[in-house]
Amino acid sequence: MSKILIAYFSLTGNTKRIAEAIHDTVEGDKTIKPVDDIQEVDGYTLIFIGFPVHSHSVPFNIESLLNRIPAGKKIALFSTHGSITGSHLSQEALEHAAVTASTAKVLGTFSCRGKVSSEALEVLSKSPEHKLWAEMAASAQTHPDEADLEDARAFARRIVILNVQ
Ligand SMILES: Cc1cc2nc3c(=O)[nH]c(=O)nc-3n(C[C@H](O)[C@H](O)[C@H](O)COP(=O)(O)O)c2cc1C
Repeated sequence: MSKILIAYFSLTGNTKRIAEAIHDTVEGDKTIKPVDDIQEVDGYTLIFIGFPVHSHSVPFNIESLLNRIPAGKKIALFSTHGSITGSHLSQEALEHAAVTASTAKVLGTFSCRGKVSSEALEVLSKSPEHKLWAEMAASAQTHPDEADLEDARAFARRIVILNVQ
């Protein structure tokens, strides 16, 4: 029987909301945990791993989890970000995550926008390397919204089907 883990990191709650939508959608033996509470991953057949994009990339604690995924383990990656969905800025971090866990079997990826705290926006918009996405981020303030959550549920259903194939 399938044993599913939904592992996530979330500073301001956006990625946690997506993780919870995935958790609500998948059926059976399932566990949802913040990444810092995860000791071992061996016992799970499928692991969803979610994170906020930080500085175009993957937060350190998620990178560390990705490095610990055993070869051949089925995983699915999801992220939230301030930049526009589908832009190369939003794709880069997912690609980096997939490469980091390259011996795992990546069943799929999902990402959506997430509002950026005003404190973070103010600080980050002052640094040249963050200027581009910080400008886009102003229009992320209503995300994740109900449509994002529905897309996340559809993603979870798709991954569960792939998991049993
Ligand atoms: C320190 C920091 C760096 C960030 N860097 C990026 C970035 O490079 N690109 C981007 O699209 N969003 C960036 N963001 C925005 C977050 O990815 C976005 O708000 C995300 O939804 C936050 O998720 P959370 O609420 O789960 O922490 C950054 C946010 C913070 C706080």
